[in-house]
Amino acid sequence: MSTLLSINDLSKKYRRSNGIFTSSLHNAYKDINFTLEQGKTLSIIGESGSGKSTLVQTIAGLRTQSSGEIYLHGKPLSKLSLQERCKSIRMLFHAPSDSLNPKATIGRILAAPLKLNSNLMAIERDKQIKETLNLVGLLPDYLAFYPNMLSSVQQHQVALARAMVLNPDIIIADEILAGLDISLRFKLVNLLLNIQEKKGVSYIMVAHNMSLVRHISDHIIVMHNGEIVENDETETVYSSPKSKKTKHLLQSHQPDYRK
Ligand SMILES: Nc1ncnc2c1ncn2[C@@H]1O[C@H](COP(=O)(O)OP(=O)(O)OP(=O)(O)O)[C@@H](O)[C@H]1O
Ligand SMILES: [Mg+2]
Repeated sequence: MSTLLSINDLSKKYRRSNGIFTSSLHNAYKDINFTLEQGKTLSIIGESGSGKSTLVQTIAGLRTQSSGEIYLHGKPLSKLSLQERCKSIRMLFHAPSDSLNPKATIGRILAAPLKLNSNLMAIERDKQIKETLNLVGLLPDYLAFYPNMLSSVQQHQVALARAMVLNPDIIIADEILAGLDISLRFKLVNLLLNIQEKKGVSYIMVAHNMSLVRHISDHIIVMHNGEIVENDETETVYSSPKSKKTKHLLQSHQPDYRK
């Protein structure tokens, strides 16, 4: 098994205003260390405001860290071109309807990352798009549709296709399952697992639903106040949690928490 991603001593400080004239530095996350293996799923859980989104957005390149380094295949991310980064790490957001251009057809939406980040000819792009659409379980007919013609789970499938069309190493998903009813959550989770089996992609999932987290993750990180308080294999976290915060999260678990 090879280490795909390595996060070394990553911290992010931001300035918070304390009044009209004063401000102080706070940590969104601090001294973060973990690794992700190829073809595995890592879930990040923790209370609201614990730094999960800020951390994964930094890994996706949407924010910068104050200190520390992220390594992909042993190379510092800061040394990779934007194109290399975009090809390797893709991000999925909570509400796909907000991130899919309502004026573009699904075909155009899926062609955009290939046009920007690859040198493929139009005919090769079309082939890649059709294969990816098939991978996420959508028929080629959908290429002519617009996002608002799709159900919410189909919009998630398109967002997933857009993320997968470049054959990335890592997909980061920040609470994509929240807001879907339970049967659609399982449909999307099964699709994610199926794609992982076929393509060997790794996932970093920010999630709240503890039963789904157990179902999908190989490894779990628990964050509290910007720090990692638990970092272990899924079954170890569930059978013998070390931190008080993890015990609390496991005890307070309700199946329909945060619909
Ligand atoms: N640039 C910034 N300016 C002000 N505050 C920031 C900034 N970046 C992060 N924060 C703060 O950092 C903390 C972590 O926020 P973050 O959104 O990452 O938490 P989260 O774990 O994703 O929470 P949730 O579960 O509610 O999504 C919050 O207190 C947030 O207000
Ligand atoms: Mg968040």
